[in-house]
Order: sequence, then C-alpha cells, then structure tokens
Amino acid sequence: MATKKIVKKKSKVVKDKKVIKKAKVKNVKKDKIKNTKKKDKVVPVKKVKKTATSTNVRVGNKTPELLRGFKDILPKDSFYWRKIQSLADQISQAYGFVFSATPILEEASLFIRSIGRGTDVVDKEMYLFEDRDGSKVCLRPEATASYVRAFINHGMQSLSQPVKFWYLGPMFRHDRPQAGRFRQFYQYGCETFGVRDSAIEAELISTGYNFLKDLGIKATVYINSLGTVEDRQNYLIELVGYLRTKRAYLCEDCKKRITKNPLRVLDCKNTDCKQVLEEAPQIIDWLSESSKNYFMKVLEYLDEVDIPYVLQPTLVRGLDYYTDTVFEFYEDEVNQESQNALGGGGRYDLLVKELGGQDTPAAGFAFGIERIISVLRRQKEEGKLSFSENRSKFFLAQLGEQARMRSLKIIEELRRAGIFVEHNLGKTSLKSQMELADKLGTAYSIIIGQKEVQDGTVILRDMESGNQEIIDQKKLKSALEKKLSKV
Ligand code: HAM
Repeated sequence: MATKKIVKKKSKVVKDKKVIKKAKVKNVKKDKIKNTKKKDKVVPVKKVKKTATSTNVRVGNKTPELLRGFKDILPKDSFYWRKIQSLADQISQAYGFVFSATPILEEASLFIRSIGRGTDVVDKEMYLFEDRDGSKVCLRPEATASYVRAFINHGMQSLSQPVKFWYLGPMFRHDRPQAGRFRQFYQYGCETFGVRDSAIEAELISTGYNFLKDLGIKATVYINSLGTVEDRQNYLIELVGYLRTKRAYLCEDCKKRITKNPLRVLDCKNTDCKQVLEEAPQIIDWLSESSKNYFMKVLEYLDEVDIPYVLQPTLVRGLDYYTDTVFEFYEDEVNQESQNALGGGGRYDLLVKELGGQDTPAAGFAFGIERIISVLRRQKEEGKLSFSENRSKFFLAQLGEQARMRSLKIIEELRRAGIFVEHNLGKTSLKSQMELADKLGTAYSIIIGQKEVQDGTVILRDMESGNQEIIDQKKLKSALEKKLSKV
C-alpha cells in the first residue's frame, strides 16, 4: 500500500511538472503570436549571457594552470629583464622622455575608435568584456591610445610642447599563440606630443635604434610614408581598383578587406596575397609634394646619424591611426620575411583631435620585450651576448646563530656603502656556502663565525689562491673597496 501511495505521489509531481511546462510553452507561443501580429515576424528569444561570479565559477581541486598565451617571468630570465628595464630608463631619459604609466583596463571605445574597425587587433584580438556596472571595457592591446586619452584628460596641450612619455608594461591581444606572439606581452614605448617635424621621427628612430644597439642587437629600420588623409584617399581608389581585378587570388579575409579596410590587405601574411601585392600600386607614388618632402627630410636625418634603413612600400602597420611616416625595426641577421618585427611606430597627427582633443600632432614607437629577449637568449646560446650578468665579487658566509644575526647588519652596512654581497642565510654548513660562492664565481668570501663575532672581525678569503686574512669589521668596507679596484 505504502509503495503505491508513493508512486501515486510521484506521478502527481510529474504531472504537475508537465502542466507547468505546457503553461510555459503556451506563454512563449502566445508571445510569439503576439509579436507576429505586431511586427509580422517572429522575434528570436534572446539568450541571457551569464556573467562569471565567484559563485558560478567551477573551482575543482586541481592546481590552476597558466592561461594559453600567457607567461610567467621567471628568475632565470631576470637578467634580461633587468638589463632591458635599466637601459630603457637610461636611454629614454637621455632623449628627454619622462616615465609614466596608464591603467591596463580602459573603455573599449578608446581602442575601437583609435586602432579602427577592420584591423585584426580590434576585430579579433581585443580582450573585451562587460564590467560589473555593464560598461564595455578592454584590457589594453597597446598604449598609444591610452596616452592620447591621458594627454587630453589632463589638459597637457597647455604644457610646453613637446610632451614626451616613455612606458614599459603589459599589453593584451587574443592572438593565436605562436613563436614571438603571446596574449600578454610587454612593450617598451616612447610617445612625443605637440610637434610636427621630421626631426621628431628621427629622434624616435634614433632612440629605438640605439636601444637595440646598446643591447648588442644589430637592426635595420624598414620605413614608409602613408602621407596625409587626402594622399591616401587618392591611393585607395587606385588600390581598390587593382585588388578587385585580383579578387579571386586573395584570401577570404582580404576579399572582405577590399571594401572594409583595403589598406589592411597590404599587411596580409598569406603567400598568395603577398604575390598579388608585388604588382600593386605603391603609396609612395601617390604622395603630395609636401608629404614627399617631409618624408625625404626624415630619411636625410637618418643618413646623418648613420641609421641603416630600407624603404618598404608595402609597410602600412596594423593600426589605423597612422599618417605620414611609419617604421619597423628588424634584426639584421634574420630574414625580414620570416621574422616578427622587434618594434614599430609612426606619426599619428589626427588621433588627439579624433578622440576629442585639440589638434595636436604626435608620433611614437613601441618594442615587444619578449621578442627582444628571444634574440638575446639566442645570442647567449651562440656565445655572442654583448653583456654579462653583473654579480657581486663577494660572498658572505656565516656559521652559527650569532654570526647569522651579525651578517644581516654587515649586508646592510655594505649596501649603504654601495657594495652588494651574495649570501644565503638559509644555509648553515660552511662547506655548502663555499660551494655556492664557487658556483657564483665570486672572487672573495667574507667568513664570519662565533669567534669573529666576539672579536669584531671577519675572515676574507681569496677564492682562487685560498689565502685568508683577518680584517676588523669596521675596516671591512675599505678593504672590499680596495679589492674591487683590483678585480
Ligand atoms: P605594434 O606594431 O602593434 O605597435 O606593436 C609593437 C611591438 O609589440 C611589435 O613590433 C612586437 O614586437 C610587439 N608585439 C605586438 N603584438 C605582440 C604579441 N601578440 N606578442 C608579442 N609581442 C607583440 C603598437 O603597439 C603601437 N602602439 C606602437 C606605437 C607607439 N606607434 C606609435 N606609438
């Protein structure tokens, strides 16, 4: 009996569910019919997008993985990063750029308006999402647009011109990860606002070229001019005419680009498209007299400072905001066709006004740090790296609790005097500390044990000869300075 009752109850629930379902279906049908009557067509029911919240993300207990196309910067690479950061700081300052930083998250419209629809960056690669308040935001794919926004927002047109920035930070593009292409990558860049003069391009190119040179990277600048908007309009009529006659040979993307953004066809890496481009009209032939003169002056400056360049008529860059000069840096020893650019930039005289500011000419460049590091890593493997790791010549070894305490004091006293000492306070055996000092290639070890703590001395050991001397702790600084002047 009891079982029957339960069965009966169950079936009632099932029945109830059916009833509810039927009712829902009825409602939808009714709605659709209503809509049909009103507008004469069926309006598709909108799918409600679920936003991620901390409660609807499945967490599991597996160790979370690094996202595809993202990288950790590990201690093994810190040598390159520190060299690049300090050189970027030094060279930017020498050329008059001032360090600054803008946020990683910006209004999505900033990049859509500046980089342009029809570019790969905007159409395919932006990390675009809805913020909690519903606004459309984006992880910056580059920093130029952000600097234009900052220039306008902070009224910098009223400052003495040019206003010059430099920056180093992460950018985000949802590209297909491959060699030299990541979804998060770092750029070192410089931007100059407020002056239109060929000397500005020459200064930017010199900064970039000498940055690479000081890192020991021989590079060539590939350069072109896109002229003014009017120059480009005339050229585009010619280009579109040509591309239409070759439409059948172009990739699917480029077929669309003919009407959407024809200049982008010139960027295409597809081999068939590249072949079509060999015979395409070249923008340089469509430049007005004044655009040509402006460009010639840039080249003259480059000749004057001995910067090697190659005129590249198909170089248009992948972003829509450029006018006049555009350029890219390529490593010399590698075929330009098969490699990624180390950096690139150009003039963008219209962008400040387009984003709502006063008419302000501007130009800049940016390098991809990971690409530069991959060149340096290769050079290291080939024994061609032009700089070495700047490690201390001294190692401080300690034995016993009191010695370890005194060590911390000595490390700080020496640091204040500008002397850095390698050490490992985690190791307690003298043998293992000496092995480490040897591995690091330190010239001298400073040894401190219980007796030395009490005597106020240290033992200074020459790692090569094994000779040892006892030194008063108060005289350690001058003793090390003497040793430094000899090694
Ligand atoms: P860009 O050519 O798009 O220009 O990027 C500059 C550099 O960033 C490239 O030459 C490359 O080294 C590096 N890069 C770009 N995408 C990736 C990626 N997915 N993975 C690794 N590295 C990458 C700009 O971003 C402009 N804002 C440059 C500029 C500054 N123009 C005027 N001012």
